[in-house]
Amino acid sequence: MSEDRNALRDIPVDKLLKHDAYDELAALAAEIAAHDAAYYQEDAPSVSDADYDALRKRNEAIEARFPDLVRDDSPSKRVGAAVAAGFGKVQHNPPMLSLGNAFSSEDVAEFYDRIRRFLSLGADEPVEIVAEPKIDGLSVSLRYENGKFVRGATRGDGREGEDVTANLRTLPEIPDTIEGAPAEIEVRGEVYMSKADFLALNERQDEAGGKVFANPRNAAAGSLRQKDAGVTASRPLKVFLYAWGYVSGVNGQGYGGDIDWPDQWTFYERLKTWDFPVNPYATVCKSFDETMALYEKLGVDRASLDYDIDGVVYKVNRLDWQQRLGFVSRAPRWATAHKFPAEKATTLVQDIGIQVGRTGTLTPVAHLEPITVGGVVVQRATLHNEDYIREKDIRPGDRVLIQRAGDVIPQVLEVDLSARPSPPPPPFEMPDTCPECGSLAVREEGQAAWRCTGGLICPAQAVERLKHFVSRDAFDIEGFGGKHIEAFWQDKIIEQPADIFRLRDKRDEIAGREGWGEKSAENLLAAIEDRRAIELARFIYALGIRQVGQATARLLASRYGSLENWRQAMIAAGDDTSEAYAELVDIDGIGPSMADDLRGFFQEDHNLTVLQELEAELDIEDYEAAVITDSTISGKILVFTGNLESMSRSEAKARAEALGAKVAGSVSKKTDLVIAGPGAGSKRKKAEELKVTVITEEEWMQILDGGGPQMQLL
Ligand code: IVH
Repeated sequence: MSEDRNALRDIPVDKLLKHDAYDELAALAAEIAAHDAAYYQEDAPSVSDADYDALRKRNEAIEARFPDLVRDDSPSKRVGAAVAAGFGKVQHNPPMLSLGNAFSSEDVAEFYDRIRRFLSLGADEPVEIVAEPKIDGLSVSLRYENGKFVRGATRGDGREGEDVTANLRTLPEIPDTIEGAPAEIEVRGEVYMSKADFLALNERQDEAGGKVFANPRNAAAGSLRQKDAGVTASRPLKVFLYAWGYVSGVNGQGYGGDIDWPDQWTFYERLKTWDFPVNPYATVCKSFDETMALYEKLGVDRASLDYDIDGVVYKVNRLDWQQRLGFVSRAPRWATAHKFPAEKATTLVQDIGIQVGRTGTLTPVAHLEPITVGGVVVQRATLHNEDYIREKDIRPGDRVLIQRAGDVIPQVLEVDLSARPSPPPPPFEMPDTCPECGSLAVREEGQAAWRCTGGLICPAQAVERLKHFVSRDAFDIEGFGGKHIEAFWQDKIIEQPADIFRLRDKRDEIAGREGWGEKSAENLLAAIEDRRAIELARFIYALGIRQVGQATARLLASRYGSLENWRQAMIAAGDDTSEAYAELVDIDGIGPSMADDLRGFFQEDHNLTVLQELEAELDIEDYEAAVITDSTISGKILVFTGNLESMSRSEAKARAEALGAKVAGSVSKKTDLVIAGPGAGSKRKKAEELKVTVITEEEWMQILDGGGPQMQLL
């Protein structure tokens, strides 16, 4: 875990109180966002994959327990946090804001009170509120100059988003030109996909072997962020507008200038005359009671609406009041989001099945009597692992309460014990053999998961690994989706990764397959050829070694440089007493458990064969550090110890690596430099014994500034 870990982190999720959960979700959102930024923008991961995954999992678990606390900026809502290469950046000025939350009518009453107090309004003075559904999509900003649509951007982090103009142009509901608008205006709103369109899209994707989306929001985000606007055009995206950004002539606070609407509602009228869709539920509420009535009504209508909403947004109608109320941090004081509780329903567990993943994990899944929850038919629920089933005592034949929190795959909340058939069905037992290949299944000590020991002889693992191998962050072979892999594997056209690169010998066979032809076979082979050269880090990630995600793959690539070096080191590390093993666990971000998975991979002969065969087909490029190589510390091995006051350990590490240094977890004779903050203990002592240079945090800061006394130090 990171240094700035929160004390709450130690409390088991099922013991968390709601207000603590609220605080922790806020902390997790910030922490994960910082790691994402380090990873994606600075290309310098600040935590190990395992720690990163643990943070995300905890976030997920808390959200599953308190779905109404899910934040708008939750990591679970960010789809591919990367500002994808290929999209230009757009600065949002004024920034695109988020909203405060209300979870109860008391919270809403408090929202009204705050406004009254802030504006010193008399008790009888009416406060008009515009209320409208909170659309569960992704927000965009559309810029019009002299009535012409010139640029559209995603929200990104609120200050900087991606330029997706070409993609947004394909939305039929976004007009190319508007009449009678200010010379320059940015209108803002939410792009979404209807539930029906989402289900149909997933069906098409599944047929074609493409990506299947977890929920309409992800589908909308994935469809909008396409490099090829033609793909976006084929996806049924819609939009509701509800705010403005920059308007020509406005003052620093975003008011005045060409804004000629006195209130929010008149702005919506303008939007309609410009032909933008405004949500039909948007209403001016003249009192608290009217506001609550709309909330109740939307709560009822919600399930039958064709799009997901997760609350009702309230906005002070008068613009002069909005201006006076202003903002607290990044949310307006004049608006709030009144959240709906997650949608729940009860249904029957018909059966409990087992899914086998790429690394052999057996995941129990409840097969449910199909039921509509919030307008989406669900028939499966994840049961996570054996402990989860035990704890909730879920048995086939039980009636269960399920909850859908945005995703199509819901959670099982509890069993209705009073409805359990008699005699009661026996408790569920995890199978001790893999349902896919019959190999022994084991549950290792300290782990929640059962695992199939069949490795590549297990069809599920083989197919899942192949899917992983060609997936976006690995070999990224375009047009080669899961369905194709399954079919090719079934017919023994592909049995192991290297076979993919030998497909050119089977061109005619592919072209002759059902659903294929000359052109599509040609396209596939071209896409494969395109990927014959691959960076080492991607290659390592593509192997799908347990616990080795993208961040770890990069660490390994940067530390070992070439496939050959890496392989030799991993094989040598098989011996616990070897220097290679010591070196491996010394990499900051790689712990003993991950090291074991790496060594385990290289101890299996069939994995070595897989590697060899791939090597014969591929051009695996040595790691080239995208870092400054002529800094004072490039190529040096650094160790941080003690507390740093000016930056977190993660940041220090990321910045050191960006200057070409390597950061180790412990001091050895190979260490070049130790940065010791207050409280440094044994590592400092060891450095002194080994006569390794020890510097203070101040001196470290000077190195970062590119000046100071470091020349003499190193
Ligand atoms: S108003 C100045 N209205 O919710 C206020 N936001 O938590 C700006 N959202 O990022 C937002 N429906 O993506 C507003 N009717 C609505 C909305 C809405 C969905 C989203 C939006 C924003 C987030 C804020």
